[in-house]
Amino acid sequence: MCGIIGYVGKEKAVPLLVEGLKRLEYRGYDSAGIAMLEDKGLIYEKCAGKITALEALLQEKQFDSTTGIAHTRWATHGEPTDLNAHPHLDCKGKIAVVHNGIIENYRSLRELLNRKGHKFTSDTDTEILAHLIEEYYDGDLMEATQAALSQVEGTYGIAVLCKDSPHQIVAARHGSPLVIGTGKGENFVASDVAAILRHTNKVVYLEDREVALVDPENFVISTVDKTEVTPQIQEISWTLDQIEKGGFPHFMLKEIFEQPTTLRNAIRGRLNYEEGTARLNGLNLQYEELHLIDRVILSACGTAWHAALVGEYMIEDAALIPVEVEYASEFRYRSPIINEGTVLFVISQSGETTDTQAALREAKRKGATVLGICNVVGSTIARETDGGVYIHAGPEIGVASTKAFTSQMMVLSLVSLLLARMRTMSLERGREIIDAMYKIPEQVEEILRKDADIKAIAEKYYKKNNFLYLGRGFNFPVALEGALKLKEISYIHAEGYPAAEMKHGPIALIDENMPVVVVGLRDKVHDKVLSNIAEIKARKGKIIAVATEGDDEIADKVDHVIYIPHTLELLTPVLSVIPLQLLAYHMAVMRGCNVDQPRNLAKSVTVE
Ligand code: G6P
Repeated sequence: MCGIIGYVGKEKAVPLLVEGLKRLEYRGYDSAGIAMLEDKGLIYEKCAGKITALEALLQEKQFDSTTGIAHTRWATHGEPTDLNAHPHLDCKGKIAVVHNGIIENYRSLRELLNRKGHKFTSDTDTEILAHLIEEYYDGDLMEATQAALSQVEGTYGIAVLCKDSPHQIVAARHGSPLVIGTGKGENFVASDVAAILRHTNKVVYLEDREVALVDPENFVISTVDKTEVTPQIQEISWTLDQIEKGGFPHFMLKEIFEQPTTLRNAIRGRLNYEEGTARLNGLNLQYEELHLIDRVILSACGTAWHAALVGEYMIEDAALIPVEVEYASEFRYRSPIINEGTVLFVISQSGETTDTQAALREAKRKGATVLGICNVVGSTIARETDGGVYIHAGPEIGVASTKAFTSQMMVLSLVSLLLARMRTMSLERGREIIDAMYKIPEQVEEILRKDADIKAIAEKYYKKNNFLYLGRGFNFPVALEGALKLKEISYIHAEGYPAAEMKHGPIALIDENMPVVVVGLRDKVHDKVLSNIAEIKARKGKIIAVATEGDDEIADKVDHVIYIPHTLELLTPVLSVIPLQLLAYHMAVMRGCNVDQPRNLAKSVTVE
């Protein structure tokens, strides 16, 4: 969703800010803008559409400014128009604000400011911030921002410029991430480290209700209530290579092909063969506490929710602990019953998803131990949980999650193994699982070698408008994820179903025009899935099956088969989803879609 970058230093700000905005494109946006301080005062440019449109506006003029802020907007309040794009300015054109998040009490503040004579030019909630700061401004931008923010309800990550302070940016955060990047004679602010990683890997994460005054040499942080804060500088381990395409045509394809490596990273140093178990010290739970867990809730959104569903099968099957999976957006408004032994895992690639954060806080309030499975180190969810496990997948730029999904499942299998070995699982079975885990990265490589075959299948079906995905047991969530991937990036309508539910509705749709993707591995429900396949064929449906190597029986019954290597049933989803990722990718490319930035979608959903 929205992105922010700001710069104060010696370099020309415009190219640097535009480059930073481009690195934020992956988050999803519909307009962009920039504000900077030139000798002649505060200048801004903004427009609906892509960053290239903003660049075209900027190219017409010459800018020398070395201080500026820039923004990509994902519309919430007000359509994606030039006027609603950020920055927003006060009445005198002296103060410029860019903002991520939502100001919930903006209507009452706008009325109040209207009564005081302020004139608004946009439909956004953000604009009230510029006017509110103007209202309090008395020569000190930091103080005026603090005073304004003390009136605001909602979430914000903001950067503010004022004509009177040519080498300063004020930045603040509440609920929407913001970091300060520190350099030599230059400093940055950003909503996402990807925007500034080319310049610095030393950052300070602002906490909620903190405000920073940043100039080229220094920065000071205090709270909205003016309590001074001692900054903690942290080093980011992500490299520039990781946020670039590395020869692949799209980030999504690069990330699909990174999975052997990311899966190795997910298990590295976390397996203890001797004891047949997993080592997850980040959970911060003592042996006794782990033993007391008698109920697990897994909560997440989107693809991470599918990983949670797989986790439910894994934990119940291996550790015999009851598990519930909850959409974070539902959990936050329910009255969840939390007992002493309840543990809530929130699963989030970005660690910033608003609904998932809210679920975390709700469970915490009710006394649950809250653990995180996150990718982004230092993210809000990672910091607010009592403990957790990082998936170590590296930056995921493609909006459609791929490598984070497989790593989330891998980490959930580690959690299952750990909990299981403390309960009924034998040492021998624990070691069997570890052996299978070690083989997974190589097996993924084997599947990736079938890319050309999968592309050939995509070629036959990419013009279809509907798809059905079926799976059972551990692979039912994989059917959901396969369908989600396809609809997200190709805009083909796709539905995922547990295979046996087909006869309760979707079977009505099946005819010779309906391709059905069936995950039909050799597992305990294999025969049942073969019956479903027969039912589809009887209605002339076209079938693409993902099957276990050596299963010749299925090949005779379907139109296309993609074989994957054999593994333990518990780990099959990590393999079976790979062909579905590739199938979705190729079909989307063939349809001419923008695979990395699908329309209307955002990588990190920071609004409700
Ligand atoms: C968005 C993204 C999805 C992602 C979901 C949850 O919808 O487009 O790819 O699965 O948010 O994101 P999270 O960062 O919490 O895993």
